Amino acid sequence: MQTLHLTEHDAARAGDILRHGGLVAFPTETVYGLGANAFDADAVRRIFEAKGRPCDNPLIAHICDLDTLPTLWREIPDTARTLAAAFWPGPLTMILPRTAAVPDALTAGLDTVAVRFPSHPVAQAVIRAAGVPIAAPSANLSGHPSPTTYEHVLHDLGGRVDAIVEGGMSSVGLESTVVAVEEHRVTVLRPGGISPEMLAVVLDDAEVIIDPGVTCPVESAPRSPGMKYRHYAPLAPMTAFTGDPDRTAAAIREKIGMRTDCAALLFDEYDAPCSVVHYGRRADSLAQAHRLFDALRKLDDLAPTEIFAQCPDETGVGLAVANRIKRAAGFHVVNVP
Ligand code: TXA
Ligand code: MG
Repeated sequence: MQTLHLTEHDAARAGDILRHGGLVAFPTETVYGLGANAFDADAVRRIFEAKGRPCDNPLIAHICDLDTLPTLWREIPDTARTLAAAFWPGPLTMILPRTAAVPDALTAGLDTVAVRFPSHPVAQAVIRAAGVPIAAPSANLSGHPSPTTYEHVLHDLGGRVDAIVEGGMSSVGLESTVVAVEEHRVTVLRPGGISPEMLAVVLDDAEVIIDPGVTCPVESAPRSPGMKYRHYAPLAPMTAFTGDPDRTAAAIREKIGMRTDCAALLFDEYDAPCSVVHYGRRADSLAQAHRLFDALRKLDDLAPTEIFAQCPDETGVGLAVANRIKRAAGFHVVNVP
């Protein structure tokens, strides 16, 4: 299949392809998404084929106005309205019971559907041009890091999708915060650019809980099917080091010793006597989020035998950065005292 290269000026063309059942990758503020008409079960199934994604892992429906919500969700509780008013458009995905119009292929048969209203102007233009909600997982091959640039998408999905819309580097750099919404409880199933602290600030009537699967490996039947897959896995085995950055850097240097065949993923302030990929200053979790997935791809290009990574502490957006690093390491974590 020939993959068309589109730009931000080609939203109408992208919308046309989507309306006719095609697959179009497009930029969002979190990561690039691989879109299809969310109400077209065949088109949605094509997403799973193109990505090599397990079909029990449900997709997020993307919207560009709140009027579309009643076609997706049976009811919209006040908690969801409050979160939408505070964080939409933006990097927050909410899960609620779905309507009968939502195809099983989108939700992997679950009774709920995840919805997000992205803030990226090109994402909004593409969804508006399509005139339907757009199902869109991250536009990577299953198991690869999520794409934050056009080049990442082209590398993974060139020849497998109808078109890719180019739109610069994603600003947030990690996938959206995914929450299950109940009347008095909001459960974070995947941390992202909207931290649990930010959610709690706007919610008077509901508590914010972090699902155990966010910080520990899950064995069976997780609340979010995505939790059980080893996403973002570099080719080489990776170990994550948590603790004070001076100490984790020292522990990594000690581990490396004289070995030049390994690689280190470090904060900008540190170095090691092997290949090093930096991903932001130690106290800047927004920069770390923005650069992490590109850094993971660079680590693969270096083809090391083993990777040692500094992991930030889990406050604010650091929770999301640490979550992605620990998952990439298959939860192989060393806590440095
Ligand atoms: O930032 C993002 O969310 C990006 C951009 C393109 O919007 N999309 C994205 O989609 O990351 P994906 O498919 O890579 O991740 C969606 C996650 C998966 O872990 C999936 O299991 C979970 O959301 N999910 C989707 N629908 C769900 C549902 N009804 N119940 C529980 N988890 C759900
Ligand atoms: Mg993904």
